[in-house]
Amino acid sequence: MSLNGNINFCIKPSHSIIGKTCIPGDKSISHRAIIFAAIAEGESRIKNFLQGEDTLATIRVFQEMGVSIKNNGDYVLVQGVGLYGLHAKNPTLNFGNSGTSARLLAGLLSAQKFSSQLIGDESLMKRPMIRVVNPLKKMNAKISCSKQGTLPIKIKGGQNIKGMCYELPVLSAQLKSCLLIAGLYAEGETEIIENTATRDHTERMLANFSHPVAKKNSKISIKKAKRLIGCEITVPGDFSSAAYFIVAATLASNSNVTLENVGVNPTRNAMIKIMKLMGADIELQNERLESGEPIATINIKSSELVGIDIPEELVSVAIDELPIILVAAASAKGTTRLSGAAELRVKESDRIQSMLDGFVVLGIKAEALDDGMIVEGGKFNGGSINSYGDHRIAMAFSIAGVIAKKPIIINNCNNVATSFPEFVETGKNLGINIDYV
Ligand code: S3P
Repeated sequence: MSLNGNINFCIKPSHSIIGKTCIPGDKSISHRAIIFAAIAEGESRIKNFLQGEDTLATIRVFQEMGVSIKNNGDYVLVQGVGLYGLHAKNPTLNFGNSGTSARLLAGLLSAQKFSSQLIGDESLMKRPMIRVVNPLKKMNAKISCSKQGTLPIKIKGGQNIKGMCYELPVLSAQLKSCLLIAGLYAEGETEIIENTATRDHTERMLANFSHPVAKKNSKISIKKAKRLIGCEITVPGDFSSAAYFIVAATLASNSNVTLENVGVNPTRNAMIKIMKLMGADIELQNERLESGEPIATINIKSSELVGIDIPEELVSVAIDELPIILVAAASAKGTTRLSGAAELRVKESDRIQSMLDGFVVLGIKAEALDDGMIVEGGKFNGGSINSYGDHRIAMAFSIAGVIAKKPIIINNCNNVATSFPEFVETGKNLGINIDYV
């Protein structure tokens, strides 16, 4: 850690990446497990919960709304208060860096008796919220956000929420989930039309809590709930965290890595398809279901990659993996083109700009597009990268360091703790030459 409290990483060229490891719990699924456990009746036990800052923010917010949640590090025990049992001692709820918590809870809070205000850290305060505010208004919520369409969101409690039929104008699982959660409280039925799939963890998690949603072609419908029933959930390892080691093992020569109990939900794992199109050697073993989610052991061996045009239909189901896929593309033979990924511009940082800036420092030829990037494969030089406080940018460029000619320093890595606090230790155990500086 530097003197100003910033965490920086230094990655030196590493030889083979070898070993077997477990990946910490999935961030998206951990959030949803807490949300539904909090408003269910009875106790829920959540195993392999992600102990990251984002998911801990979700726990904290529910504790502030009167839910007893005990987190002993091994599992989380939640005493559900029922659909109408939340109350807000302090109406201002702070979601830190977590866009998922803020957007999903905007749906929940719109249907409560009490009024609330949602805020977050500097990065979250800049992210688009109008996408959830407008449709919630259609459901009769009294909700507003800043003139720029950002936090703070203000919600007036005690409204009669109504079902609606809504076609998603942006491909966002956070938006879909926000509306499904409001739909739990809405008179009649809430129907969401999603023309391209986004991650379906909310739908799968609701079935665990005994309130299944219906899905027919592109239409997802949810009825007003009488109750959710507490249950036991085992959270799969986070595929988005596994992705860094999938690329590390592919790029470093003579590597062989096995990642155990990783979530491979088809609405999340398109990165495997993309990497295979580029020539990667990735094998799924022991595929099974855990708490309604597909999981598997993933084995990765080194291989030579070639550049491709990334199929646009895979973009929304690989959205969080695109920075690390671009790192793979930067060391592939030939050109890779990514388009249809404008959402990257409104993540924890503008990920298209953050990746371009990093590539310039490392001597990789790349061109930013409004909705993607063109990358020419080459060899990474060493250098000092600004992660712009974005966890996925920090971890993606750490993996570039594995095969770079000289060490890479990544600045401003504090936010890696939002999704993968054990990233450095897990990397070291697999033979990556990474440390804090
Ligand atoms: C998430 C959905 C994605 C993803 C985010 C988590 C979720 O965002 O980028 O990290 O848990 O629903 P969008 O749905 O807004 O693309």
